Amino acid sequence: GWTTSSIIDDTVEAVRAQVGEGRAICGLSGGVDSAVAAALVQRAIGDRLTCVFVDHGLLRSGEREQVERDFVAATGAKLHTVDARDRFLDALAGVSDPEQKRKIIGREFIRVFEAATAEVAESEHVGYLVQGTLYPDVVESGGGSGTATIKSHHNVGGLPDDLEFELVEPLRALFKDEVRRVGAELGLPETIVHRQPFPGPGLGIRIIGEVTADRLATLRAADAIAREELTYAGLDRDIWQCPVVLLADVRSVGVQGDGRTYGHPVVLRPVSSEDAMTADWTRLPYDLLERISTRITNEVAEVNRVVLDVTSKPPGTIEWE
Ligand code: XMP
Repeated sequence: GWTTSSIIDDTVEAVRAQVGEGRAICGLSGGVDSAVAAALVQRAIGDRLTCVFVDHGLLRSGEREQVERDFVAATGAKLHTVDARDRFLDALAGVSDPEQKRKIIGREFIRVFEAATAEVAESEHVGYLVQGTLYPDVVESGGGSGTATIKSHHNVGGLPDDLEFELVEPLRALFKDEVRRVGAELGLPETIVHRQPFPGPGLGIRIIGEVTADRLATLRAADAIAREELTYAGLDRDIWQCPVVLLADVRSVGVQGDGRTYGHPVVLRPVSSEDAMTADWTRLPYDLLERISTRITNEVAEVNRVVLDVTSKPPGTIEWE
């Protein structure tokens, strides 16, 4: 069998052979696949790789720093961050429907990423686009590979021609557990290598109701507390994920501090799963649930009630939207 270091050596060699003296670009999502793909390509071609990270404002607490500080420190990769928080908030204003939110977030993401890529590609003559495609994705999609065209007509600046890239897919032969081992061997931070699944539309689909800056701040604070306590309890590897959901259009009466409040509930949704197709609600220890609840209602002023989702999948999905 292949050892992790021989996988790294062979992949680095293959990327060098493919890219030669060319330049590449890689979008980072904050997740493990894109981070490991970028780290491998960085090892192969160094500064001729530029990573692009779009902050859409729907990230969890600390995620941008994990990429900007920890990923860069571990790999030395050249990173271009795009702050698109206002743009996403504007596009999501007044929208409550889950599928509508997904569509808007997906559309805006492609536009922002394409504009950033076009900008970098124009100035640096980039010919290669790195993607974190895994072996199971290759099988599922019929094994195709090749080129990607970035359409510059979304770009306000109006670049003359569509840019075409050859794809570099360093994880094409690997399963998820191998990707994590490679990431660990390359020195990527634990928080990235063992990150639990987190949806692309991020906190945008964990606010039930319209997405606003205030609601995002509330959910981000509650989510950070739940994650901190789960990590402190040593349960990160035991649960699949634990969405925290803000019921932004629901209010209930409470007593906090000086008196009566009329705040919002958050839902804890801890699940156990093998592949996210089915899931069971995780029986978290009561004392842990109590700590999370007490801290959230003490530290997040807008939240006066914490409730636990005890629904399996099916019939419930993991996310609420
Ligand atoms: P559901 O809610 O369908 O979620 O049970 C199954 C898994 O998929 C994740 N998820 C998403 N991931 N974009 C993503 O990249 C999405 O729109 C999306 N919706 C759900 C969810 O977190 C779970 O791991």
